[in-house]
Amino acid sequence: MVGIDLTGRNVLITGGASGIGKASAKSFAASGARVAVTDIDRDGIQETVRGLGNEHFAIDGDISNKNDVDKIIKAAGEALGNIDILINSAGVSDVIMSTVDQEVETWQRIIDINLTGTFLASQAVATDMLKRGNGCIVNVSSIAGLVGLPRRNAYTASKHGVAGITKTLAAEWGISGVRVNAVAPGYVLTPMVADLISSGKLDEKNLVRRTPLGRLASPNEIAEVILFLASKLASYINGAIIPVDGGYTAYGAAGPAVEIE
Ligand SMILES: NC(=O)c1ccc[n+]([C@@H]2O[C@H](COP(=O)([O-])OP(=O)(O)OC[C@H]3O[C@@H](n4cnc5c(N)ncnc54)[C@H](O)[C@@H]3O)[C@@H](O)[C@H]2O)c1
Repeated sequence: MVGIDLTGRNVLITGGASGIGKASAKSFAASGARVAVTDIDRDGIQETVRGLGNEHFAIDGDISNKNDVDKIIKAAGEALGNIDILINSAGVSDVIMSTVDQEVETWQRIIDINLTGTFLASQAVATDMLKRGNGCIVNVSSIAGLVGLPRRNAYTASKHGVAGITKTLAAEWGISGVRVNAVAPGYVLTPMVADLISSGKLDEKNLVRRTPLGRLASPNEIAEVILFLASKLASYINGAIIPVDGGYTAYGAAGPAVEIE
């Protein structure tokens, strides 16, 4: 992004093998930051890092597992020195089914990855950030953290939870120089959404009709807002949940927002 220089800053990005996390890795590296990406997908993070150039790192692990998170943060600290910025992008979609049919194991797995993973990574980086009196965390919530998406109950609960801990951490850590914010993307054309469209669980045309900008987002359009929130340009933004949704959550009329064939 023009005008954002993060030279000398070190960033850890979860979910960096794909989608919004991968696009963020590219944006941060292009802005001069040193990047460590982590993900459960080992091959994916190697591919992300190969595309970034030198001085960037791949660390695999499961973000929902506390032992893995501790190892990831230790390895990232050793590779980068300090972690100045944490981006919590690792996440999974819901099964998209009637809530009465949802298995508690599926519910729990979605909460564990999307919400507990965000908590564990934030907690693990914060110890050092708070000691240094400097740090920044950007969480990836969703429009599902602002409104209710039927048949996506665990996902919606997890993303409301991410919005909630964004506010509590911002309120708790702001005085120590650690800012915590979140983006709330609408529908973004990443592998997650492409899979839901190709399996018939989401209807792309209906999503476009419901979005005032009349299209889905690219991963880069979310990554650039994440980059802004992590930069000095956002130095007085703390505890904010920024919709990056083409107007999806602003739209309140009964019918479609745009007409398409
Ligand atoms: N794509 C969208 O429309 C959209 C909209 C709103 C919010 N989001 C959120 O954005 C974030 C990124 O999603 P995306 O669309 O880029 O999806 P994606 O599937 O392309 O990327 C998600 C990444 O998270 C990783 N991941 C999953 N479980 C993990 C675990 N246990 N430990 C470590 N990594 C794990 C996956 O391997 C994958 O690389 C997610 O939190 C998602 O909920 C996406």
